Amino acid sequence: MSNSLLNKVFKNQNSSIPIWFLRQSGRHIPEYFQIRKNEENFINFCLNEDLIIKSTILPLKYYDLDAAIIFSDILMIPWAMDRNVKFTKNFGPSLEPMIPNETKVLHNISLSSKLQPLRNSISLLRDQLPKTVSLIGFAGAPWTLACYMIEGKGSKDFINTRKALWGSYKWFMELIETLISHIADKLEIQARAGADILMIFDSWSHMVPNNFFYDCAIRPTAKIVDILRSRKIFVPVIGFPFKAGTSIVKYSFESKVDCIALDWSVDLCWAIKNLNKEVALQGNLDPASLIPSHSDYLKENVLTILDKMKERRFIFNVGHGLTPDCKIDNVKKVISVVRNYHRKV
Ligand code: CP3
Repeated sequence: MSNSLLNKVFKNQNSSIPIWFLRQSGRHIPEYFQIRKNEENFINFCLNEDLIIKSTILPLKYYDLDAAIIFSDILMIPWAMDRNVKFTKNFGPSLEPMIPNETKVLHNISLSSKLQPLRNSISLLRDQLPKTVSLIGFAGAPWTLACYMIEGKGSKDFINTRKALWGSYKWFMELIETLISHIADKLEIQARAGADILMIFDSWSHMVPNNFFYDCAIRPTAKIVDILRSRKIFVPVIGFPFKAGTSIVKYSFESKVDCIALDWSVDLCWAIKNLNKEVALQGNLDPASLIPSHSDYLKENVLTILDKMKERRFIFNVGHGLTPDCKIDNVKKVISVVRNYHRKV
């Protein structure tokens, strides 16, 4: 188990503010392409222990970070469910779209054997990484996976998914239940292998119609956390209800996560006032602020976030993943501002 700054946040131990970045392992580091070259097929890449380990460690070679996030993808569950997941250059993911009310059995998948490389990589990494670095395991949330599985690809509005929710509610909820079970299993596998923290990405939670937000986002997350706790998995869980607006208030009280990752649209003063005070907070820095080669505002903005969060248990991070055009020097600058900031508590 890690004794990193990040895990201390969850033990209520007063310490400096930890820092890591969403999508820290990907394409903004040129060396990633050297590793990526070894395997054209992205799914096979995510199944290759050597490549998973190299990609997970890569950002730690460049940056002084408090966490490594295991290199994998949220779509490995739909892949394990035989949804014909493919990643095409300049197009993104594609899957065999699910037809509402289709009865194909999705329950009996051998997730455990299919995710053996993920499990092995986590065990090996936990041994290799210093104890001061947390290892984060993750999964997509049920709603976000359902979005990709029904739509069959990314979308600006996920209209087919929302249509399926309104038109075939019972079937939709069965899909959500099936996903809850697979996601809990995937998170359990990662925690048992050595992950110190788990994160649930609900990247499309802003597509949930408001009156279904409890059924589709909050309750499924709470159920996943309940399943983990009932299996004696007590590692902290971070939830990421991306761009869910004011719905994150209820999410903070009822989803049972230990920390909420905030996107860049959240007003931090509002969040401090309205979100459950028992829950730690993470994120909020706009990843686009790391793209310009020169910005007068970067340092000032990082300090503003730190000042606002000084009374709260907080993990410094971006409000969504680093983009491929993000500058390494900017990431370094942010880390140095955070490291030099002395908490005035
Ligand atoms: O540092 C890390 O976070 C790396 C691990 C990681 C990846 N995907 C690797 C990846 C994580 C945590 C994810 C999560 C993920 N995957 C999410 C949730 C986070 C978010 O961004 O909202 C989502 C929605 C996906 C689905 C996904 N995977 C898409 C839409 C794409 C294609 C678009 C894109 O960004 O290229 C991927 C591919 C993917 N996953 C890449 C990486 C590094 C790019 C693959 C490549 O070409 O090398």
